[in-house]
Amino acid sequence: MEKIPYDQIINIQRKVNIVDVISGYLPIEQRGKNYFAICPFHDDHNPSMSISPEKQIYTCFVCGASGNVFNFVMNYEKISFVEAVAKVASIAGINLSIKAPHKSRNKDDTYSKFYGMYELANKYYQNNIKTLYGKTAISYLKKRNIDESVIKEFEIGLSLNDNNVTKLLKNKGFNEDDLIDIGICGKKDDFVYDVFRNRIMFPIHDSDNKVVGFSGRIYNGESESKYVNSKESVIFKKGKILYNYSRALNEAREKKQIIIVEGFMDVIRLYTIGIKNVVATMGTAITKEHADLIRRLSKNVILCFDGDSAGQKATISALQMLENIGLEPKIIRLEDGLDPDDYIIKKGKEKFQNHLINAMSSLQFKLYVNKEHTDFNDYKQISNYINSVAKELEKIDDKVVYELTIKKLSKETGVDIDTINSLLKNIPKKKPELITKPLKVKKSKYEMAEEYLIYYMLRSKEAILQYQNDVAYLTNKNLAMIAIKILDFYEKKGYINITDFTLFLEDNDVLINEVLRIDSFDLPDEVDVNVIKDYVKTIDEGILNSEIKKIKEQISAESDVAKKVILLEKLATLKKKECK
Ligand code: CTP
Ligand code: MN
Repeated sequence: MEKIPYDQIINIQRKVNIVDVISGYLPIEQRGKNYFAICPFHDDHNPSMSISPEKQIYTCFVCGASGNVFNFVMNYEKISFVEAVAKVASIAGINLSIKAPHKSRNKDDTYSKFYGMYELANKYYQNNIKTLYGKTAISYLKKRNIDESVIKEFEIGLSLNDNNVTKLLKNKGFNEDDLIDIGICGKKDDFVYDVFRNRIMFPIHDSDNKVVGFSGRIYNGESESKYVNSKESVIFKKGKILYNYSRALNEAREKKQIIIVEGFMDVIRLYTIGIKNVVATMGTAITKEHADLIRRLSKNVILCFDGDSAGQKATISALQMLENIGLEPKIIRLEDGLDPDDYIIKKGKEKFQNHLINAMSSLQFKLYVNKEHTDFNDYKQISNYINSVAKELEKIDDKVVYELTIKKLSKETGVDIDTINSLLKNIPKKKPELITKPLKVKKSKYEMAEEYLIYYMLRSKEAILQYQNDVAYLTNKNLAMIAIKILDFYEKKGYINITDFTLFLEDNDVLINEVLRIDSFDLPDEVDVNVIKDYVKTIDEGILNSEIKKIKEQISAESDVAKKVILLEKLATLKKKECK
């Protein structure tokens, strides 16, 4: 793989802001001069990752993940350092003249023909709906309040009762087996045919806005399946795609909110009433991958699944999935079992917007679900209900919410507030989640001197020169490596600073994390040269100490008398040095 010269790396880094790049992956919020995000590198529930625009560095104070913009992209996307540099370069609008690494180039090549097939089929279907054959489909959509501009926006098309897509794509030189593999064509007894027939076509785009699948809906006549989807393929995995993701991306980030619905028509309906920060799970099954994608859009999530019981079940599992990755979604439950599309058509957009403003907290929703399943004439069920609420309350540390919930519960059930309270006292309160720094191991003064010396080597040429002239080596392997690299950097560049030095370390995460850990020490930026000299002295002592220890171990392990004598002599010389 090609290596990118350091000067080019630094040039790219200077043209981007790490805050903007990370905010393309995660919702972030500003606090003081830094920004914070939920750390994607460990199971984070509070924003533990801080991003410094000043240093152009991110650090997670829980798991210790840290680095510059390239390290972030590399680790987040699980790609190589060179690929990450190329990616950031393209964000910066710089054309990097490096060859893409082989693996992903091949992958891209194979996939690009699949994308090509879908793109062409999509154009074809879109054209159909505009022709005479599309009249019934258009009037069906009109009846559902979908006009031409929306048809255009969502690239809605039409498949006809023929095999013209197969013909077209084969004529364009696409391979028959590929067309079957990718789910555009089917084959029976050597006859290759169009999979989608006589349906209104919704193209499904991936997060790069490429068409990777279709869903076709019946519109005239009967069929056992309302929607038919492209089969799963290398580019289409329903569990990893959200409908409308790429179109909703910017809107969600601007509005700092994302609404999750089940269906195509729900997305489209919300869009027509001006709510564009919406994506669909395309059914009730929500996966961990969906949840991760949602988190990329915004951390303020509103779940608005269908008002029926399937929608409620789906809401419960989606809630679980999203809470597991540190989000706190709000919930809308629509009356009369309606889905968002039908709801807006039947009850009007104002009523829907009201729901949006008054979306329930997860606690409210859970109480509501519990209540719905309780027969208030049955004492045992009332008791179960109170207990289940108590279990939810256990997780709350907001005293006001706590008290109001108990009052409401008492009113609903006719059970005295004191009784409920006494019940709650039996439930151990959840311990508040502690945000702890990684456990500090007590360090020897020698280790500390080595770390402090690095801290100042990252800041001043005096410290670097002291190291160069007076330190034999550092006993900690990583620190030793860092010191050598700092010296190397300084000799090549004639200066030192943290940001540029991390770029020099490229993809060496271990060293970068170590450098940034040391950089975060609470020490003054500038220091008297005598303090550095003290560190150096302590380090020397440490080296001597460890050498003496090593020799002593060798002596006690040695059985050959002659060799033992030599070792003892060595020890004596070292001890003499120690006394000096
Ligand atoms: N769905 C699907 N395949 C199916 C059924 C449903 O992909 N065989 C997805 C579609 O994205 C659909 C969503 O699940 O939009 C919700 O299904 P459903 O509630 O049955 O349909 P609606 O969205 O209400 O569709 P319409 O309004 O067109 O009847
Ligand atoms: Mn519907």
